[in-house]
Amino acid sequence: MKYGTRTGNPAKARTQCTIVGIYENGQLTTSAREIDKASKGYLKKIIKRGDIKGKSAQTLVLHDVPNVNATRVMLVGMGSAETIDAARYTVIARAVITQLKAVNAKNSLCCLPEIGIPGKDLGWKITRLIEQFESGLYQFTEMKGSPPENDSEMESLDLLVAEREEQELANAAIGTASALTAGIKLTKDLGNLPGNICTPTYLADKAKQLASEYASITTKIVEEKEMERLGMGAFMSVTRGSDQPGKLIIMKYKGGKPKDAPHVIVGKGITFDTGGISLKPGAGMHEMIYDMCGAASVFGAMVAVAEQQLPMNVIGVVAAAENMPSGDASRPGDIVTTMSGQTVEILNTDAEGRLVLCDALTYIDQFNPATVVDIATLTGACIIALGNHATAMYANDEGVAEDLTAAGEDSLDRVWRMPLWEDYQAQINSPFADMANIGGREAGSITAACFLARYTKKYRWAHLDVAGTAFRGSGPAKGATGRPVPLLVEYLNRQLD
Ligand code: BES
Ligand code: MN
Ligand code: ZN
Repeated sequence: MKYGTRTGNPAKARTQCTIVGIYENGQLTTSAREIDKASKGYLKKIIKRGDIKGKSAQTLVLHDVPNVNATRVMLVGMGSAETIDAARYTVIARAVITQLKAVNAKNSLCCLPEIGIPGKDLGWKITRLIEQFESGLYQFTEMKGSPPENDSEMESLDLLVAEREEQELANAAIGTASALTAGIKLTKDLGNLPGNICTPTYLADKAKQLASEYASITTKIVEEKEMERLGMGAFMSVTRGSDQPGKLIIMKYKGGKPKDAPHVIVGKGITFDTGGISLKPGAGMHEMIYDMCGAASVFGAMVAVAEQQLPMNVIGVVAAAENMPSGDASRPGDIVTTMSGQTVEILNTDAEGRLVLCDALTYIDQFNPATVVDIATLTGACIIALGNHATAMYANDEGVAEDLTAAGEDSLDRVWRMPLWEDYQAQINSPFADMANIGGREAGSITAACFLARYTKKYRWAHLDVAGTAFRGSGPAKGATGRPVPLLVEYLNRQLD
């Protein structure tokens, strides 16, 4: 959808649908008041009749409102004006796009930027509106044999802002929001692609494509031969069971001064996780096409950052491999040497994410990162702990933890900090090697993070376990969510100050 801005009296706007908010107790918003005035009390009459009470996210579409130029007026409930907050605002935005899809208005005007939200400015509101609208419009159609019937005729949506000065600000916000939603869309598309298409080679090609599309991005692919030479025994132990060659993908975005230390984001890119010889049960295994959602979020964040032309240096790293059982696959009990020199006893080949990540996290030492954030669908235990709402966050640095927490609260793509205490480290000790790759049933997400912590001592680092938040594996809402791209982009923006 194309977004723009508009000022003036909404009652005069010629649109196929003008969207205005009303509060719970029948109290009108500024735009609703204008429309009510023009229509000589028509809105008040409808509200009095009780068709809409203004409850949060309630909608009612009115046609041919007297003396109003819009063919339709959509009333949207805001709930009570006293309690409206950021979270509710996004829920309302989602309800608006759902209703707008139903009426299929070619062009519309949304008056919701005027709604006051404590602590949030116009830019924030516009970002959330566009994020929710694009999310509501998203469909994954790449794998359909015949192009799906285009049932949507929606072309453009204008946002109503108060005055000319606000308009400039709003147009800039549309730009940054569109950069963000472009990133989110790429993350969803990559996540939703099946394992037979989205292979490590596919991801490497995607990175090369970004480098050709953006002058600010360069790409390097570390092939298996080089990994062997670098001593990446952990990464190699995962990819050896697959016929698909593994790839370590490096994408460098240069927006800052050459000397500025880069912020590095590292994604787990297991393009399909069978579990390997520690094979997963068949039911639900298809969900493991999503085991590269961390990698997909790195791609999405890189696109958003490049589109926003952030004046900083960012390096995106993707550890791409397929975890398969085969005659050459790793066995439970195997011991491998990582690039760091530490040895790992592989007690379960299904704990493969940490194995590809530990070598990637060692590889990036050479970049002297300002901060490092890795993103991984790492453990089922994370879903048991936090469900689908919060991403688990672990950090060896208070500043990084605080920035991620604040970025999550602001973007509503939230994290919850988990302990990385030394106490848990004992669970992954091994009598034969320097460590084991699993730590038992208890605190599974924490011990996975403890494993990674042994490879990230040289820099400020955080780990995001997005197993519960990056996708819905089945059901009606199945699909990649695009998380944690909003979080990452907000986090990186906060590193500018
Ligand atoms: N990719 C999985 C984790 C996962 C499970 C992500 C469900 C999303 C949804 C990971 O590679 C894995 O298999 N982890 C094991 C670790 C265990 C063997 C210590 C798990 O969580 O069971
Ligand atoms: Mn696994
Ligand atoms: Zn996995």
